[in-house]
Amino acid sequence: MKTFDAQIIANQPVSARYWQMTLDTSALDQPVRPGQFFHIQCGDTWRAPLRRPLSVYHYDQKSRTLKFLYLVKGIGTQQMTLKKKSDIMNLIGPLGHGFTLPKQGALLLIARGVGVATLHALACQARAENKNVHVILSARTPADLLTVDLLAQIGATVYTVTDTERTSSVKSVRALSEKLIREEGISSVYTCGSNRLNKLVQELADEHQLKGELATEAHMACGIGDCYACACTIRKDNQLKTVRVCTDGPVFPISEVVL
Ligand SMILES: Cc1cc2nc3c(=O)[nH]c(=O)nc-3n(C[C@H](O)[C@H](O)[C@H](O)COP(=O)(O)OP(=O)(O)OC[C@H]3O[C@@H](n4cnc5c(N)ncnc54)[C@H](O)[C@@H]3O)c2cc1C
Ligand code: FES
Repeated sequence: MKTFDAQIIANQPVSARYWQMTLDTSALDQPVRPGQFFHIQCGDTWRAPLRRPLSVYHYDQKSRTLKFLYLVKGIGTQQMTLKKKSDIMNLIGPLGHGFTLPKQGALLLIARGVGVATLHALACQARAENKNVHVILSARTPADLLTVDLLAQIGATVYTVTDTERTSSVKSVRALSEKLIREEGISSVYTCGSNRLNKLVQELADEHQLKGELATEAHMACGIGDCYACACTIRKDNQLKTVRVCTDGPVFPISEVVL
C-alpha cells in the first residue's frame, strides 16, 4: 500500500449515471488483485475532506493503467466527474484483501448495479487463466446494465436480468443460478452489490457446497485500519467477531458474513 499521484488518461460517462476513469499508475510498483480497492482524493478537500473508496475495475500490469467504474452519487463522485485528461489524482492503495480463484471448475459471478465494477476485474483474471466464467448482471433497467459487451469480449458468458423486465427477482436469479450450477460445473460463486443477492449466494454456496466470496461495502473514513468507521461483524469458528472492512476485507468468505 502506498500514497501516490496518478495522471488521468480519460474520464468520461459510460451511461446516464456511471462514469469511467482511466489512470496512468506507473508510480505503482505493487501487484493489484481483483477485489482490492483504492482510496481516492476526489477533488476539493474543503468540501469533501474524506477520500472515497473505489474498487479496481480493470488493471493492466503491462501498461500500468488502472480503471475505475463509478456511480455518480454525492459530492465526492460529482467532483471526480469534473476531472479532465492530464489532471492528477492522489490515491492510496492497493488496499484490502481481494478475491481468491478456484483451482478448478467454473466461476459464477452475480453482480447488482455498480457491483459489476468490483467483479469485472475478477472475470478478467479468471479468463486470463482460461477458466470458464458465467456472469449474472442485475440492474434496475436495461440502460443501467454495464459492461455486458466487455465481459462477452473476454469470453465470459453473460446473463442479464432487470427490474423493469421483471426478471431480477431473487426467485428468478436463484432458478438461473441453480441451472448453471447443475449444467456448467460451477465450483465457486462471487457476489457484490445487493443484500438480497448476498443472502441468495450464501444459501447457494451452503446448499451446493461451493466456495463463495462476497465483496462488502461499508462507509469508510481512513481506509487503512485506524478509525473503525468500517467495522462490521463476521462469524468465524462459530464466534461473532468485529472486523474492519478496509483491512480484513472488503472480500470475505460468504460463509463468514453475517447478513
Ligand atoms: C471497498 C469499496 C469499494 C467500492 N467500489 C466502488 C466502485 O468501484 N464503484 C462505485 O461506484 N462505488 C464503489 N463503492 C461505493 C463508493 O465508495 C461510494 O458510492 C462513494 O464513496 C460515494 O461517495 P460520494 O461522495 O459520491 O457520495 P456521498 O455524498 O458520500 O454519499 C452519497 C450516498 O452514498 C452513500 N455512501 C457513501 N459512502 C459509501 C460507501 N463507502 N459505501 C456505500 N455507500 C456509501 C451515502 O450513504 C449516501 O447515501 C465502493 C465502496 C467500498 C467500501
Ligand atoms: S475506514 Fe478506518 S478502519 Fe476502516
